Amino acid sequence: MRDLVPAPAAVIRNETKSIQELFRGNVIPTYGRFDLALARGEGSHVWDVNGRRYLDFGGGIAVCVLGHANPEITEALVEQSRRLVHISNLYYHEPQGRLAQQISRNIGPGKVFFCNSGAEANEGLYKLARRFGHDEGRFEILTAENSFHGRTLAGISASGQAKVKKGFGPLTPGFRHIPYNDLAAARAALSPATVAILIEGIQGEIGVIPATAEYLLGLRRLCDENKLLLLMDAVQCGHFRTGRFQSFQRILEGRVDLPGADTFLPDAVSMAKSLGGGVPMGAFWAREPYADLLDPGSHGTTYGGSPLACAVALRIFEVIERDQLARNARETGAWIKAQLEQLAGKYPTVIQQVRGLGMMIGLELAPKIPAFAGSEKPASLQFINLLHEAGLLAIPSGAQTIRLLPALNLRPEEASEGLALIEGVVIRIAAA
Ligand SMILES: Cc1ncc(COP(=O)(O)O)c(C=O)c1O
Repeated sequence: MRDLVPAPAAVIRNETKSIQELFRGNVIPTYGRFDLALARGEGSHVWDVNGRRYLDFGGGIAVCVLGHANPEITEALVEQSRRLVHISNLYYHEPQGRLAQQISRNIGPGKVFFCNSGAEANEGLYKLARRFGHDEGRFEILTAENSFHGRTLAGISASGQAKVKKGFGPLTPGFRHIPYNDLAAARAALSPATVAILIEGIQGEIGVIPATAEYLLGLRRLCDENKLLLLMDAVQCGHFRTGRFQSFQRILEGRVDLPGADTFLPDAVSMAKSLGGGVPMGAFWAREPYADLLDPGSHGTTYGGSPLACAVALRIFEVIERDQLARNARETGAWIKAQLEQLAGKYPTVIQQVRGLGMMIGLELAPKIPAFAGSEKPASLQFINLLHEAGLLAIPSGAQTIRLLPALNLRPEEASEGLALIEGVVIRIAAA
């Protein structure tokens, strides 16, 4: 029997290997990739080139907000592509205007600029801040240690992580880093050149760490007192992932004990990822009176806010609202988190802590897990390799944390399926 039925594992390796070869010879090797070659997806599942199915709890790093091959995204793409794909920003078109209106409706009175990625959205924030401070000679933006704001030259300069800057100096001047969730440190760091503070509502790249309500409100006061802009990077944690459009809305919700919690607004917010659900798109929103600082000719990008991308983003808003996906993100996310906390209680030698809000969950691994001792690879990567073996995709967040960023329309039975796969891996590690 063995001889007649070839072992599937051998086939999987060969198919994946030939694609890896193609990459090795032709693609600039900037990414450390996992040993998987994916071919198609549907909802919260993807299949590799050999037909093996995986449950996707990574969502393309918080992008695939409605899952894979969503028929309504396809429909929006097809319908709009029959009408008008691109015209440039020399002309008006309705989808861009309607999308900007939709974003402001969900944050507050203001205006929106469209671009193509998170890093580019943040570039817009830097330029907004520099314009704001220009006449007074102020240009410095404080950002948080361990923050991530993208891979452009200004993006790596803004990011509070040494590893993304290494080998690319001299960096863009005008960025300094402050400890996250530490208001006193922010106050102490201000200089006469400071013009803005930029933070993520939930830090995504090293550990999934939400800002506290007190920190957000304290930064708002600090910025008001010192004529600084408060900028928020919602590229990863935005777009209903936490159960509200913006993470700060979720973090501050119900905090009647904190003065200003019900009226809090940053001055500008960058977004991307889930906004286009896989169609590359970025944007930043700026509130009045800063929305008109960038006047005609001061900023631009060829593809930004194309009819095609905007039609998709509008459809995503419609589906999220119609299907109450913010509620699903909140409730299913809370259920997953509670289950993981129970698992952490049972296996403290494997899981140290569970953090996050809604569908942005971080699973911090315990230090020095014996099962991982024999390898140089960070614990997060070793854990994820085991998840892949079990049939689940997830994303590392630094060396010790696993990030779960599933689609907002994840079904309860898929949440259970994912939990069972994680539990299996945790039991395996604990027993090793
Ligand atoms: C918080 C945050 N900001 C900015 C970026 C950069 O976005 P992009 O990769 O679309 O340029 C990312 C990407 O992971 C991010 O998580």
